[in-house]
Amino acid sequence: KPATVPVISIDGPTASGKGTLAAEVARQLGYHYLDSGALYRVTGLAARRAGLEPNESNETEIARIALHLPLEFIRGQVLLDGEDVGDDIRTEAAGMDASRVSALPAVRAALVDLQKRFRRLPGLVADGRDMGTVIFPDAPLKVFLTASAAHRAERRYKQLISKGISVTLDSLRLDLEARDARDMNRSTAPLKPAEDAKLLDNSEQSVVQSVDQVLQWWHQAQPFK
Ligand code: DC
Repeated sequence: KPATVPVISIDGPTASGKGTLAAEVARQLGYHYLDSGALYRVTGLAARRAGLEPNESNETEIARIALHLPLEFIRGQVLLDGEDVGDDIRTEAAGMDASRVSALPAVRAALVDLQKRFRRLPGLVADGRDMGTVIFPDAPLKVFLTASAAHRAERRYKQLISKGISVTLDSLRLDLEARDARDMNRSTAPLKPAEDAKLLDNSEQSVVQSVDQVLQWWHQAQPFK
């Protein structure tokens, strides 16, 4: 019965460290991992490659692309039509495109089934914006991760600089705030904590501390023992 497959949802804003936290929790529990943001990023990229601006006038066509994405996740790689697009979807421009396609309700609807199919035994850790509110509302543990805009901009800055991508801290922070505003204010599945979410602010925490906190909540919460 799919409803009994355990899920931990981890939602939060851009660059809050959701991905790192979710992947590590999944690794320690031996669970599957869903990076739902990657689905929106790949959709944005595929739309661009099809010559479509990520906006309302192309909603139907972009939704059709999302519904039939030739997408595979293999050993941490993201393959679009067999091509490793890991680097292409991680740029700031791709993040902004992802945020724009994700505001289109038909695109969100097109990606629902794909996301639900990640829920397989022995369990799933899913990160995104609406994992606890829309996709897995029955998740026994929901985490809403936050960190101050300054901390998030700083982390993203270090990530990009270490990859040799040149950016300024100020432009990153502005980008991040623009994306947060769009993600929180859109009408479909806006970024907000589920009512029963545990709030975790990791501004002053190491990754190890956040992972330990989530695992501790999981051991307290999980009804599957
Ligand atoms: O988590 P991320 O930065 O990779 O997500 C990229 C964009 O995708 C984000 O700005 C909003 C959107 N997104 C979403 O709307 N719902 C999700 N579950 C995950 C991401």
